[in-house]
Amino acid sequence: MKENLSFDYIFKDGKVVLPSGIVDADIGVKDGIIEEIGKISKESASSVTDSIIDCNNLHVLPGVIDSQVHFREPGLENKENLESGMKAAAAGGVTCVFEMPNTNPLTITPEAMADKLQRASRVAWTDYAFYLGGTGRTSSNLSEWENLEGTCGIKIFIGASTGDLITPSDEEIEAVISNGKRVIAVHAEDQYIMDRNKKEILGSSTDVSMHNIWRSPESCLSATRRVVEIAKKYKRRVHILHITTAEEMEYLKMNKDVASVEVLANHLSFSAPECYERLGTLVQQNPPIREKHHQDALWRAINDNTVDILASDHAPHTLDEKAQTYPSSPSGTPGVQTLVPVMLNHVSNKKLSIERLVDLWSHGPHRIHKIHNKGQITKGYDADITLVDLNKKMTITNAQQKSRTGWTPYDGLNVTGWPVMTMIRGNIVMREDELLQPIGQQVKFKETM
Ligand code: DOR
Repeated sequence: MKENLSFDYIFKDGKVVLPSGIVDADIGVKDGIIEEIGKISKESASSVTDSIIDCNNLHVLPGVIDSQVHFREPGLENKENLESGMKAAAAGGVTCVFEMPNTNPLTITPEAMADKLQRASRVAWTDYAFYLGGTGRTSSNLSEWENLEGTCGIKIFIGASTGDLITPSDEEIEAVISNGKRVIAVHAEDQYIMDRNKKEILGSSTDVSMHNIWRSPESCLSATRRVVEIAKKYKRRVHILHITTAEEMEYLKMNKDVASVEVLANHLSFSAPECYERLGTLVQQNPPIREKHHQDALWRAINDNTVDILASDHAPHTLDEKAQTYPSSPSGTPGVQTLVPVMLNHVSNKKLSIERLVDLWSHGPHRIHKIHNKGQITKGYDADITLVDLNKKMTITNAQQKSRTGWTPYDGLNVTGWPVMTMIRGNIVMREDELLQPIGQQVKFKETM
């Protein structure tokens, strides 16, 4: 304990979630850094009135990292922009986001990456990094381009979703995987199987409850197997995003040497067919929300440590767009602001422990993306803190949403568990649902420093 230090902030008397587990401890923050973890006297606060944060009955978590969001800028700002997306994140207790490349133009060149970084730096409510899209066409540049400033990894879509970033064939996937060494995040749905199914299974139907039938489990398993086999050949790390099927979880459990695994809050929270009957195209997303037995398999994989990362896949579309007749309606839901309360509610319902949840949304991204000094409460790391009240009862509503789209599929859900403060590098950005100051910056990665 360094009593001679005067801390900018002291988180006093909280339950602190460290990489080793929960401890009763205080945290001292100085110059944006976690300086001390332990018993800290109130006298070492720089200001008695403003610096001591009473954390009695609260949990002090490392800042929540949402490593899969779509913020739509440039090109699709009618749905969202970087400012509104990051504002929604900070309001929901998220301290850092990794944003996807299916914007317009696509983020697949150094120029597009530099443009996004420039745009983000204007008003950033959270820290941020961006995925660079991988394509067959640009693959020979990727060993160099994967190291661009602000880049958290490469992203490929094996099956099409919003936008036309797609790498459907083994040849194109191999061209991307064989160039470079950082992690490749994969949207694993097999475009060839989906093309056939759309014709043969969906046909002229306009029923959204067909979404998880023609975008089939078989299509997901096929894409996942194909990309993992190629990754093994090159010993390249692949991170398979938003897994939705029991079959993929069984397969991935045996292939953790090259593949890390992600699930989404939506796939843990909604199930078919009920969700389509109740919410229609509002819960249409890719890969789709599936039946309960798949969801049960995702929960098992959370609790047996197959899953590495949990994210929101915040993918906003306007209500007008969502009102189009299926399948013209776009896929995706907002989610960055509801990620924390929805998952804390699952903790309250004993679906997982708070330690496991922290592992999934902070320690996991830190480990998989090799983030510099973020993602755990450790001395010397950035003072990114999400302070949560596991007992606070609230109702999620559309009116709370900061996303441009102004809606959430969780509208009306009563939850137990709520974020009460977002601190980023020692700056309080949100307190008791009030947003204070946009001080976000670009994230650094160990592999490119
Ligand atoms: O449903 C989805 N929407 N899945 C994706 O992978 C992309 C996203 C979007 O960008 O709208």
